[in-house]
Amino acid sequence: MPVIRFVREGLDVECYPGENLREVALREGIELYGLKGKLGNCGGCGQCITCFVDVEGAAPAALSPLTAVEEQKLRRRPQTWRLACQALVEQSLLVLTRPQTGLADREAAFAEARGHELPAGPTAWPAPPPGEEESDDDRADGQLDDAPGSESAMGDLAPQPGAPGLSATSGEAGAPAADRR
Ligand code: FES
Repeated sequence: MPVIRFVREGLDVECYPGENLREVALREGIELYGLKGKLGNCGGCGQCITCFVDVEGAAPAALSPLTAVEEQKLRRRPQTWRLACQALVEQSLLVLTRPQTGLADREAAFAEARGHELPAGPTAWPAPPPGEEESDDDRADGQLDDAPGSESAMGDLAPQPGAPGLSATSGEAGAPAADRR
């Protein structure tokens, strides 16, 4: 799995390929927000512009491409900044949280973080544990069972005696919903 090396915190965190950077950081108890974001943030909708991270030196494919929100909101920010809530992690990378607050010896911190090899990690979701794999036959069976018009599906919809929508005399179902009162 990709490894996110959080430079400020000195912490390596594994995540699944495609996971949202903000969600991984929050899950790991990493402080993503400065004061403004702590007082109020949008919860990951790309509206508050407080979840900045600096991904200096990251490979182009390490994160998903800039979203339209980032294109607009990061115009006046350094090119290596991203909004954590908009970025999906695909490969291992270094991440500096709260770059707007500064970091003493920033260059030294990045150099230290780069000094240890960053495991690339597999870039695919791990296989499910043995016994939890769903076969094609299982999926096909499930689809047929639930298919409209199938016996099981029709069984669920079979009219019940006295049910609304049934004519007491004809026994016909299918009256419009508005008439089923
Ligand atoms: S959490 Fe609000 S923009 Fe990312």
